[in-house]
This record gives sequence, structure tokens and C-alpha cells, in this order.
Amino acid sequence: MSAQLSHEFFDELKEKTARVNALIEPFYPEKGSFNAEVVEAMNYSLRAGGKRLRPMFILETLSMYGGDVRKAAPFMAALEMIHTYSLVHDDLPEMDNDEYRRGLKTTWAVYGQGMAVLAGDGLLNYAYETAAGALAAAEDETGLRRAARALSILAGNAGISGMVGGQCADLMSEAGRRPESPELLRYIHTNKTARMIASGLTIGAVLAGAPDEDVRKLDSIADAVGIAFQIRDDLLDVEGDAAVLGKATGQDALDGKMTYITVFGMDKAKEDVVRYTEEALVLFDALTASNPFLRNLLISLVDRDR
Ligand code: IPE
Ligand code: IPE
Ligand code: MG
Ligand code: MG
Ligand code: MG
Repeated sequence: MSAQLSHEFFDELKEKTARVNALIEPFYPEKGSFNAEVVEAMNYSLRAGGKRLRPMFILETLSMYGGDVRKAAPFMAALEMIHTYSLVHDDLPEMDNDEYRRGLKTTWAVYGQGMAVLAGDGLLNYAYETAAGALAAAEDETGLRRAARALSILAGNAGISGMVGGQCADLMSEAGRRPESPELLRYIHTNKTARMIASGLTIGAVLAGAPDEDVRKLDSIADAVGIAFQIRDDLLDVEGDAAVLGKATGQDALDGKMTYITVFGMDKAKEDVVRYTEEALVLFDALTASNPFLRNLLISLVDRDR
């Protein structure tokens, strides 16, 4: 599907990723005296890189509706911190037991399990400190209301009715602790993955004052994009290149995970990445504003190799 994308798109993606990094880095935590180790572990995982997709979604939906970047930057940093914490904890031995992430040893493998738990805790709390700063900086009533709504979206999608809920179901699905079913798989994908993408796709729009109907559509787009994203992640675990991916492959089978592949098989998984993405694009084209770069970004995720 992404065969239709040009070199210009991939050049632009590189530039935009650098821009996202420049916008979020000023919010990274600074070391104090006796907390140096935890802050170092937090920065280790943040600086390891990653695609920066979720903050990029905030930036792109913000610009789509004409919002102010200064107001979005704290939310971009906060969302990437929450995402990074979810990965640090996801890799722990008692969860997915992974030793490589973003091309480096995982946080627990470098700093120990206790410090990795704390680094995750630290990132989660610092994310909310950072986002709350945007409320304090609001210039007027409208700005304050929008920032409060953005904060509520950020928290809700990351919690028990979002990413944490999905991670719970994912963990319970391991080694047949809960019977495999398409319904359970959908719950896992929608919650562990799509909800964090929903924060990315709706927060920028909310901050820019997009119509409510568009925000609702963006939330549905996120469900389709998120499911497609996780199917692709499941596929990459089977047939990806670990060196490009930056994390080990074959881990899901080792952990006895229920994935899109175990439930539906490789062929249907490949078809469905495209099908869900097309579903997302139909909704995207019905929004009141357009953003060709963001549209192409969604297409590029179909056969991403990392
Ligand atoms: C990994 O997310 C976790 C999943 C939801 C599959 P990404 O693939 O966006 O990871 P980074 O941020 O690029 O490392
Ligand atoms: C993780 O899904 C989603 C999170 C909320 C962290 P995976 O466990 O499949 O992600 P990877 O493959 O380790 O990146
Ligand atoms: Mg996991
Ligand atoms: Mg994992
Ligand atoms: Mg995975």
C-alpha cells in the first residue's frame, strides 16, 4: 500500500521526526542529588529514540486545525513519556521479558528491575506534571478549558479503560490463562495500542478547537489505525528484521501470547492491516480539514519495517 509514497514523503517524515524531538526534549527531566539514578534511567529510555509517532500525531492534528505549537508541546512530551513508560514496564521480566528495545538493551537489563519500575513510575508522574504545566500557562478561559479536556483524554486513554486495561488482558491471555477469542484480541488491541494513538490523534485537534464531530471521528480513526498498527507489530515479531526493528523477534511465541497471528493466521493479518487502514482513511477524508502528510503517514504504517 505504501508503494504509492514518494521519497519526498520519507524526507519530510525525517524532518518532522527531528522537529518533534526538538519540541519534546526541553521537557525531559533533570537530575537532582539522590534521585540521579532514576532520572538517568528515565532519560535513557526517552533518548533511545523511537518513531515519535504519538507526539507527531498531536502536532499534525494541531496544525490541521490551526492550533498554536507552544500550547501542544507539553502534551506531546507528556504523551511520549507515558508511551515510553508503558514500554519500560512492558519489557520487564514479569511482563514480556524483553532485553532489547529501540536498538538498545532494555531499561531493566541496564539499570535492574527495581530501577526500571521506578523509571516507569517517574515517567508517568512527570508526564502529568508536564501536561499540568500547560493548564497553568493557559492564557484565557478557552485555552484552559481545552487544556483540561486534553489532560483528561491523556489520562483516560492511558488508564484502566485504555492502555493499562489492554496490558492486563494481554498478560492474562498468556499461555492460555484466558481462552483465545476474536473479542478478547480486539479488546487487547483496542486498549493496549489504539487508545494511546487516540490521545495522539485527538489532543492536537482539541487544543486547536476542532469541531466535536471531527474529534469523535479522529477517535474512531485511532481505533482502526491502532488495530492495524498492532497487527503490523504482531507480524513484525514473526517476520521482521530485529536489527531494523530495534527489538528481538519471535518473542510473542516464546511468551505464549495471543496475537493476531495466533487467532487469524498470517494471511488474514496482512489483509486486515490494509483493511483497517482503508477504513481509517475513509473517515479521515470525511473530516472538515485535511492534512496530506498525516494521511500519507497513516498509509506508511501499513508496511513499516520498524
Ligand atoms: C511499540 O510502539 C508498542 C506498540 C504499541 C506496538 P512503537 O512501535 O510506536 O514504539 P517506538 O515508540 O517507535 O519505540
Ligand atoms: C505493547 O505491545 C503495547 C504497550 C502498551 C506497551 P507489545 O508488547 O506487542 O509491544 P512490543 O512488541 O513489546 O513493542
Ligand atoms: Mg506486551
Ligand atoms: Mg512487549
Ligand atoms: Mg509486539
